[in-house]
Amino acid sequence: MNNLLNNIQEILLMGPGPSCVPDAVYQAMSQKTLGHLDPYFLQIMDGIKEQLQAVLHTHNVLTVPISGTGSAGMETCFVNLVEPGDPVLILSNGVFGTRMQDVASRLGAKVDALEFTWGAPVIVEDVKKKLAGNAYKIVAVVHAETSTGVCNPVPEIGKLLQGSDTLFLVDTVTSLGGINIEMDAWGIDALYSGSQKCLSCPPGLSPVSFSDRAVAALQQRKSKVPNWYLDLSMIIKYWEGRKRVYHHTAPINMLYALYQALFLILEEGLEHVYQRHLENHRALVAGLEALGLKMVVEPQYRLPMLNSVYVPDGVDEAAVRTALLEKYKIEIGAGLGPLSGKIWRIGLMGHTARPENVTRLLDALKRLV
Ligand SMILES: Cc1ncc(COP(=O)(O)O)c(C=O)c1O
Repeated sequence: MNNLLNNIQEILLMGPGPSCVPDAVYQAMSQKTLGHLDPYFLQIMDGIKEQLQAVLHTHNVLTVPISGTGSAGMETCFVNLVEPGDPVLILSNGVFGTRMQDVASRLGAKVDALEFTWGAPVIVEDVKKKLAGNAYKIVAVVHAETSTGVCNPVPEIGKLLQGSDTLFLVDTVTSLGGINIEMDAWGIDALYSGSQKCLSCPPGLSPVSFSDRAVAALQQRKSKVPNWYLDLSMIIKYWEGRKRVYHHTAPINMLYALYQALFLILEEGLEHVYQRHLENHRALVAGLEALGLKMVVEPQYRLPMLNSVYVPDGVDEAAVRTALLEKYKIEIGAGLGPLSGKIWRIGLMGHTARPENVTRLLDALKRLV
């Protein structure tokens, strides 16, 4: 019988995620499975929580990895905080801001979307005007918009909300582990991320953190959280306290992987990790521009871990990606939505952000464009 798993090739993952996974993380995943209430496993859970608090710069007690990918983290934040009729403002400049609108409106939120140009950041002045005279329960934004490669001004938006009752909800799926996040200092109340981007862990977990204010909002709900699996008021009883209460069977080996991925990041040092992303991003941009390619995003708003570049006139966008994959064993991403067919998205996320990978991609592109 042919076992398909015997023929998996090693692909250099330079798309919008998943990113390359270090061997130590694969090895962590293949450790022996423990029971989800095993005392040693509980210690590993506590370790994950502490490491997440360190990378997020938060003291939030409610800091847990949700079983599911980044979208499960998005659902978790909205489903625990939104009740029907709640006014929610979503600052949107890409696919994931659009997804937030869908998720929030399915929960019956009164969604107000402030749209910005794809490829450009959220304009803080416009947000300020929108907030004047409007009392929102939640303002939500994507920190690193993976569909375009734009970094949104999260600290500045946080400042606008200081002293108000509005909860600040931030998507850090692509930013966590690649650029600095100061959850407490920036006034973020609810945040979610994903394991498969700059954390360089396989997809399957979504770190989530709630501030005390967000926890209070959850506790003061008039109605039950309308999703059993993602109800944080229940999940927290498994992640906290001396006596742990079973909620659902934790994905044990995935959690080993997340523990190890966070361990590697903290061992390297956050500053060093961010600097490595930045230097490889600069080298990539210089190489792309030397090939005559044009970046989509203005330099000051660019994300180091997601580089979007226009496809030159007359070049078959999909054919280049296929050749990269088949001939050079490199994956890059295509454009989404209005940018579909017009751009490539090149990821330098986590373990992928290394000079040898930048050189390998540029050498291949030189032959193809
Ligand atoms: C910014 C952002 N938010 C949310 C998601 C959704 O995450 P997932 O695909 O892991 O469910 C992604 C995935 O690419 C993302 O880039």
